[in-house]
Amino acid sequence: MPYLTIALPKGKLFAKSVELLAKVGYSADNVVEDSRKLVITNEVSKVKFIIVKTMDLPTYVEYGAADIGIIGKDVLLEEKKDIYELLDMKYGKCRLMVAVPKAKKRAKLTDYAHLRVATKYPNCASEFFNKAGMQMTIIKLNGSIELAPIVGLSEMIVDIVETGTTLKENNLEEIAVVQPATARLIANKVSFKLQFNRIKKLVEDLQKVMVEENIK
Ligand code: PRP
Repeated sequence: MPYLTIALPKGKLFAKSVELLAKVGYSADNVVEDSRKLVITNEVSKVKFIIVKTMDLPTYVEYGAADIGIIGKDVLLEEKKDIYELLDMKYGKCRLMVAVPKAKKRAKLTDYAHLRVATKYPNCASEFFNKAGMQMTIIKLNGSIELAPIVGLSEMIVDIVETGTTLKENNLEEIAVVQPATARLIANKVSFKLQFNRIKKLVEDLQKVMVEENIK
């Protein structure tokens, strides 16, 4: 039997993804987020885990370096890779949204036209503002987006909000939703054909666990 290589994303989705995969028989010793070992293999169940940065995960799956992976819908919308999306796993509920400093809130979204937006999601942000008929300067950052308006790098941000804690702690306020998101199981298109039975069973088993655990 060939190995099934599973890409896991660092960050918020990591722990739940490892937990659910273990419940359907896909586990290995020491699958931890800060693992120094980059490929973790279980020789008995013929599975390999790779742990990658969220924005890179769809690329690993598109090129077949990983057969399947778990990643947020937000990243799929941003990266637009040629992969199959097999299952909405329903956890990791969050939304991509537009936020501004509370103290500088304006009456409506279009009052922010021609200003600067800091984001990790330049494609989603451009699409959103184009649809709103707003021309914006998009500033691509790789993390700690909330810092940008505080230090005057931008007037707004487009970022993920989950609990709202980060916004609150930085005196920012959400003014528009770009896109809701949850974790998705994705597959490489060739792997999906070559390992069809194994991947199909994995999807079905995950669906069962989601019902058992009342994940909806
Ligand atoms: C994400 C996001 C926000 C935060 C939102 O960042 O970019 O900063 O989580 O979560 P909350 O609403 O529960 O506070 P992440 O932790 O992934 O790190 P990053 O800032 O390095 O992107």
